[in-house]
Amino acid sequence: MLIKTKSNILSSEITDRAVFESRREFIKAATIFSAGIMLPSLGHAEAGKYADVPVGPYSAKLPVTDREDVANYTNYYEFSSNKKDSTVLAKGLKTKPWSVEVAGEVEKPGVYNLEDILKDNPVQERIYRFRCVEAWSMVVPWIGFPLGDMLKRFKPTSKAKFVEFTTIYNPKVMIGQRSGGLDWPYVESLRIDEAMHPLTMMVTGMYGDELPNQNGAPLRLIVPWKYGFKSIKAIVKIRFIENMPETAWHKSAPNEYGFYANVNPEVSHPRWSQRRERVLGSSLFTPKRDTEKFNGYGAEVAALYSGMDLKKYF
Ligand code: MTE
Repeated sequence: MLIKTKSNILSSEITDRAVFESRREFIKAATIFSAGIMLPSLGHAEAGKYADVPVGPYSAKLPVTDREDVANYTNYYEFSSNKKDSTVLAKGLKTKPWSVEVAGEVEKPGVYNLEDILKDNPVQERIYRFRCVEAWSMVVPWIGFPLGDMLKRFKPTSKAKFVEFTTIYNPKVMIGQRSGGLDWPYVESLRIDEAMHPLTMMVTGMYGDELPNQNGAPLRLIVPWKYGFKSIKAIVKIRFIENMPETAWHKSAPNEYGFYANVNPEVSHPRWSQRRERVLGSSLFTPKRDTEKFNGYGAEVAALYSGMDLKKYF
C-alpha cells in the first residue's frame, strides 16, 4: 500500500480522508435509517451505488479534494474547452447501455457489454493523486478495477505491444466534435506493460457513486503517474497493437504532448514549467505544491522506464 504524508494542502479547503470516511458512514447510516420513510434524496454521492465497495491496494492516505471541485472543473474537449461547461453539456450523453469493442492482437475479440465486464471485474475504491498537464492537481477516490485484470481475459497475443483506447464519436451530442481542435475521436494509448501495471485502473465511479458524465462516464482510464490527458474518458474501443499508435494530443502538438506523458517536474512543457502545481479547491493565495516525479508513484513505476532518457521520451 502506498502511504503518503500530507503536503502543503490547506486542510480547511480539502475534505480530509477521515471526514470523508465519517461522512460516508453517517450517510450510510442515515440511508439505512430512512429506508421506508419517504425522505427527499440526500443528494450525497457517498450514499450512491458504490457506497459499500472495499478499499483496494495502492489507496493513498491523502486529503481528498472536494467532490464538487472534481465534478465541476473538468477537461472534456468533446463538449467544451471551458472546464465548467461540460458539467451541463455532458448531461445529454446516453451512457446506458454501453459496450466496448475489443479488437486487434487478441484471442477473444468482440463487443462486450459493460454490465458483463463489471460482473467479471469487481470494483474497489482507490484514492489516487491526479495531475493535469496544465499544472493543477487533485486527489480523488476513484471506483474501478485494475485494467490489467480485464485485458488478460481477452488473451492478448505476443504481438500486442501497445493498447489503444478510443472515446465515443457522437457529434450530435458531443458538440465539440463538430469542429476541429483535436482529430476526433479522442485516442490514447499505453505500452502493454503500463496497461498491465496494477496501478492502472478502469474507472466507473468516484466518491462512492457512478461517474458523472463530465468525468468520463460510464468507463474511463486512470493512470495516476501520467499527466491527465492519458486518462481517456467514455471508452468504446480497446485495440491491441504491435506498433506505437498516434494519439490525439500528440497528433495535435507533438512537441508539447509526448506519448509517455509521465509526470516529471524536470521536463517543462514548452510553454510552462511542470515544477509546481495548483491544488484544485485551494485559494489563489495558497502556495503551490511541488510536483513529484511520476506524480509520487515512482516506487511503483520507475522500473518500467529504466534505461530510458525521460527528457527525450517525455
Ligand atoms: N478524454 C476525452 N475523451 N476527452 C478529453 O478532452 N481530457 C483529458 C482526460 N481525458 C479528455 C479526456 C484531460 S486533458 C484531463 S486533465 C483529464 O481527462 C481530466 O479528467 P477530469 O475532467 O475527470 O478531471
